Amino acid sequence: MAIGVFDSGVGGLSVHHKLVERFPGADFVYLADQANTPYGGRPGEEIVDLTRAGCERLFAEGCDVVVLACNTAASVALRRLQQTWLPGYRRELGRPVNVIGIIVPTIEAATGLPWEHEAERRGDKVEKLDILGVFSTPATATSRVYEIEIDKRRQDVAVFSEPCPELARMIETNAPREALAAVVADHVQALQRRIGRAPDRAILGCTHYEIVADLFGEALSPGTPVIHQPQATADAMARYFERHPEYDPGHGGTRRFLTTGTPGAQNGLVETFWGSALHFERA
Ligand code: DGL
Repeated sequence: MAIGVFDSGVGGLSVHHKLVERFPGADFVYLADQANTPYGGRPGEEIVDLTRAGCERLFAEGCDVVVLACNTAASVALRRLQQTWLPGYRRELGRPVNVIGIIVPTIEAATGLPWEHEAERRGDKVEKLDILGVFSTPATATSRVYEIEIDKRRQDVAVFSEPCPELARMIETNAPREALAAVVADHVQALQRRIGRAPDRAILGCTHYEIVADLFGEALSPGTPVIHQPQATADAMARYFERHPEYDPGHGGTRRFLTTGTPGAQNGLVETFWGSALHFERA
């Protein structure tokens, strides 16, 4: 059996990278839905259908657990798939399978609280407000998942989201570094204008943005802490597998990379991030 990692494109490789570090002996199948990337500007129902198709493909490859390494899929589709599709699909397959998102671990890392914790609203005076900037796709920003879930848990944290409509596509298409830097800087400035000052911390709430995390680091005020989803997800998956021995991550150390787009190598930006050549097979 294996761990499946799904994204609309190459962004999920940032999560995959940390998962492989954490579970070196496990078997992995990565699926990039590059025929349909980017998801971030698509209507919700399309995102649900595409995400379900991606999960089905990975379960058909023998995965037990699929990690949705995509904020857009996780914020728009995950709950619906868990409620309306997964229970019946498990019965059909006749084995335990699950789909896990990356937003819960990110919110746990941002709040410093376990997911089960929901703050009592006592109306205490907040001495110091911690302003958290979230950079994401338009679909994730529209879902307001970070605002809603963090607000339930921490009254001293205020979330401001900045949708970045073009950034994931630019990363998929190997845009020049100067162009990427200019777009990142524009979004950081736009967020700062809306807040009225620089955020105290930031979340790169689209897995593609980890590939240009250094550009966010340059554009944000020096020293701004950034919550990294790949690390938060790898830590959460280690706890998950301890609690759920029924899911077998495999023991062969195999790595397969599938794409619904053009098979072969990925672009230079992605290979530089990954640190070596990557070969994708046709999904
Ligand atoms: N990497 C994805 C995310 O985390 C998807 C980006 C897109 O397809 O627009 O949101």
